[in-house]
Amino acid sequence: MVYQATASAPVNIACIKYWGKRDTKLILPTNSSLSVTLSQDHLRSTTTSRADPSFSKDRLWLNGKEEEIVAPGRLATCIAELKKLRKELVEDKDESAPKVIADSILPLFALLKMIIQLSTVPVHIASFNNFPTAAGLASSASGFAALVSSLAALYALPCSPSTLSLIARQGSGSACRSLFGGYVAWEQGVLDDGSDSLAVEVAPRSHWPEMHALICVVSDDKKGTSSTSGMQRTVQTSELLQHRIKHVVPKRMKEIEAAIKAKDFDAFAKVTMADSNQFHAVALDTEPPIFYMNDVSRSIIALIVEYNRVAIEKTGKRKAAYTYDAGPNAVIYTLQENVKEIVELIVKYFPQKDGFKDPFQLFAGGSVG
Ligand code: DP6
Repeated sequence: MVYQATASAPVNIACIKYWGKRDTKLILPTNSSLSVTLSQDHLRSTTTSRADPSFSKDRLWLNGKEEEIVAPGRLATCIAELKKLRKELVEDKDESAPKVIADSILPLFALLKMIIQLSTVPVHIASFNNFPTAAGLASSASGFAALVSSLAALYALPCSPSTLSLIARQGSGSACRSLFGGYVAWEQGVLDDGSDSLAVEVAPRSHWPEMHALICVVSDDKKGTSSTSGMQRTVQTSELLQHRIKHVVPKRMKEIEAAIKAKDFDAFAKVTMADSNQFHAVALDTEPPIFYMNDVSRSIIALIVEYNRVAIEKTGKRKAAYTYDAGPNAVIYTLQENVKEIVELIVKYFPQKDGFKDPFQLFAGGSVG
């Protein structure tokens, strides 16, 4: 018998950045972070997992290209963790099987699934992104979240998104936040085994549906320094990072959660831009320094700063927030009412010859997912 399940997960873009690990194997961060999950329509990974006794081993294809699953690597760890949960589930169910059958509360197919030792059957996993991989667009976040969700569905695991986030985190730190839509915090946790380092929902999408993200693809080339290696170089060499971890992020986490809860865009924008700036400052404070933004990225910052200056003059409030991950692409958060104005401004000041790959054809302003 063959079992198969498909799941999708969207990209999330951090407002308070995760940068640095205290445990590189378990992927435990040096600070908490907070992100907004984008809508499924624009940037997502879709993963199908299939278990079949005729398969000889676990295999994975990413956008049609096979990736090796090497233990104890990240992929192998995630798959092993989910198989472990499946095994525990079946063992638990076996113990209570007579009661379950007597109550007849499970449909026949679920009973069959329980009986078969699915956790020992090899899986084939195929994952597709609808956007370029490794372009600083957090493909690993949506990729590992979709992989974990599809295996959890295949194994019929009755787990909450926070529980699954513990596993997705071991694939890629930022992936744990893509298990939820809307506004999501990754609580760094204090325990050595990582069991309290998980994602929690701060607010659902429906709380603030006017929020939009414009993704400006400055370059979709593979980035120079990966997040994984870049952040560990920062941990080893940056004094500014220690200041950030102790004195800056805890305060900002509180501020941004309050801003989201109160739907205070001005406060949200102020903290988001400050945190993007500081993340790039710690990258620069790394030895040797890491530069993720380019001239086009910096010009977009200048444009948003000027746009906000005019808005503050008129209304006392900011109307847009830029943020940059480990690459040159800009994400601009704004409210629905300003999307058109900002798109027109960017198209006016950044025609394609300046390095843009027609961002709005690729990724039109996605709403929060
Ligand atoms: C700048 O999650 O890609 O996007 O845990 O090593 O896989 P690993 O790193 P990753 O780092 C993301 C860094 C960031 C900030 C963020 O998303 O919070």
